[in-house]
Amino acid sequence: MKKVSLAVVGATGMVGRTFLKVLEERKLPLEKIYFFSSKRSAGTKVIFNGEEYTVEELSETSFDRGIDIALFSAGGSTSEKYAPIASAKGCVVIDNSSFWRMDNNVPLVVPEVNANDISWNKGIIANPNCSTIQAVVALKPLHDKYKIKRIVYSTYQAVSGAGMGGYSDLERGLKGEPPQKFPHQIAGNCIPHIDVFLPDGYTKEEKKMMDETRKILGDSSLKITATTVRVPVFNGHSESINVEFENQFDLDELKEVLRNAPGVVVEDDASNNVYPTALNTTGKDETFVGRIRRDKSVESGINLWVVADNIRKGAATNAVQIAEELIKMWNQE
Ligand code: A2P
Repeated sequence: MKKVSLAVVGATGMVGRTFLKVLEERKLPLEKIYFFSSKRSAGTKVIFNGEEYTVEELSETSFDRGIDIALFSAGGSTSEKYAPIASAKGCVVIDNSSFWRMDNNVPLVVPEVNANDISWNKGIIANPNCSTIQAVVALKPLHDKYKIKRIVYSTYQAVSGAGMGGYSDLERGLKGEPPQKFPHQIAGNCIPHIDVFLPDGYTKEEKKMMDETRKILGDSSLKITATTVRVPVFNGHSESINVEFENQFDLDELKEVLRNAPGVVVEDDASNNVYPTALNTTGKDETFVGRIRRDKSVESGINLWVVADNIRKGAATNAVQIAEELIKMWNQE
């Protein structure tokens, strides 16, 4: 088994810290590991597998040391500048920002859905938007079986998705202090505004969900609309997903398809109050699906309630799974 040298860029951030945890848990075969941040946190100590490491300031020469894989979660402008520098040095970047996701030369990957796309990477592989990842894990097996015609997404997204700043805005709001990250107080509130507004009235988060779903499922004909909302939950994104199919389905069979799908856990027993919640999914890596019921307003449709830990499956775990697939591929070459 080839051991790899790996770098974490954005190691002091919300997702960066979770990269460390997930890398430890999943025991990747690592030769060396390096941690980078901006100048602000350079010098910070992190503990990885019981050893102490010093976080370094990211620079143009950071990748001049035979790094095989770099996990980036340090914002779009850092990825825009440094991902090409890293990949020019022979490193494969797995990028959590949105910057490269829709680039035709960059695969956008959720391993349970389209792991094969990793093979055509040219040095950058994009990790999708957190809300998109959990949605497509649940939708892929249904698309394969019943062919999806239209999707309506409505999201209830946790503050951790906005990084450390989002998390502390909820803490601040609960103490009656004004927000610093969001445009309004999030405590006791719902804010229908994630990322920036676009000229057509959608937010960029909504556009990401629509565009990325089509790219990952490899179907540009899918009709999709979305409303994304920030809610006062620390961690775990919840989504109401309404799906219309081309083909007819049997509800029991559809539930069985979901039960057998990779990365999906069905929690659906209404009579015992069993359905997924953000608190229950925090710390887990699967996508949880419940409230599975027929949409009686159309010929063939369903409603789903889909919940996942947005920092783990929605970011860190998905990126580490991509790294595992890459290493597997290199070992077969
Ligand atoms: P730093 O701690 O030095 O600001 P979050 O999204 O949770 O706020 O985390 C963002 C992560 O990205 C942090 O680790 C942050 O480091 C890092 N980061 C932000 N800007 C840069 C940059 N220009 N170069 C390298 N890392 C950056």
